[in-house]
Amino acid sequence: MVDREDPDRPDELLVEGLLVGMCGTDVEIIRDGFGWLPPGRDRIVPFHESLGRVLTAPPGSGFAAGDLVAGVVRRPDPEPCPACAVDAWDFCRNGKYTERGIKELDGYGMQRWTVPPKFAIKLDPTLGDAGVLTEPASVVAKAWAQAEAVAARSHLPVRSALITGAGPIGLLAALLGVQRGLEVHVVDRVTDGRKPDLVTTLGATYYSDLSKVTADVDVAIECTGVAQLIWECARRASVTVLAGLTGDHDPVPLDPSVFDGMVLGNKTIVGTVNAGLPDYTAAAEALSEASRPWLHGLITRRVPLDRFTDALQKEEDDVKVVVDLVQR
Ligand code: BGC
Repeated sequence: MVDREDPDRPDELLVEGLLVGMCGTDVEIIRDGFGWLPPGRDRIVPFHESLGRVLTAPPGSGFAAGDLVAGVVRRPDPEPCPACAVDAWDFCRNGKYTERGIKELDGYGMQRWTVPPKFAIKLDPTLGDAGVLTEPASVVAKAWAQAEAVAARSHLPVRSALITGAGPIGLLAALLGVQRGLEVHVVDRVTDGRKPDLVTTLGATYYSDLSKVTADVDVAIECTGVAQLIWECARRASVTVLAGLTGDHDPVPLDPSVFDGMVLGNKTIVGTVNAGLPDYTAAAEALSEASRPWLHGLITRRVPLDRFTDALQKEEDDVKVVVDLVQR
């Protein structure tokens, strides 16, 4: 930890950092050296899942002191590419985008941070700590938007969903599915504990074995990156959205019959990363509508800033681990 001067950026919001969330990407950055340093620097402030309270806001920005906010992760590339030119930076075509806490820009792991008003999301003040789930929720809001756009292509009325993985992304994907009135099936490896409980409380069905899912599923949101599960999703669902990275999983044999099913069934597999402003707005609304005890149940551990590396260690039954930025 280092002390820095408060930044002097009068055109931006000055925000008191309250919480940051630890996700797999942060673990890879902090522990394994993944990510991109800011040009000419030898360090980057980590964390991209943020929650803060506005201290000062420029007049006419639409924000005021006291507002609860989350910061957007990605910034458009400078050229800009056709996607970034219309603020769809999450679809950046040339890879020159930047990301706070991941790619070339300091993240939100600071007790004071600034953000241009355009890249701040105003949250329902009653969310409290659950507001730190805005960024992961934005990623699944985009996954759902992709699923629906692709389903529309084949006149598919979406009634049911399969979610693979019951980590924060899978659970939030299940929440958004239930909020859409769908029948939601969630698969993860664990047989008991908090994940199955959270799925059941939501009104979705939990399985520790994918072969036990006998229902038809229209959409699959794949959040594990496990190749075997990807094929299984593609076999079962009309639309499969890939939201997880396979990382260093072992290769698996490719079953060509999956492709026949895709051809004959007009099926689709679509990848998705990051989120644009409409997805952040959808995420903030979804969280605002969700049960507070359920959302708070996702935050299973809170570590103080001076022991933030404790959050790198996964503990049994962890869902979302957050770092408390406020010195108490
Ligand atoms: C973040 C995304 C980001 C992606 C790739 C994910 O962990 O949630 O916002 O685009 O990593 O850097």
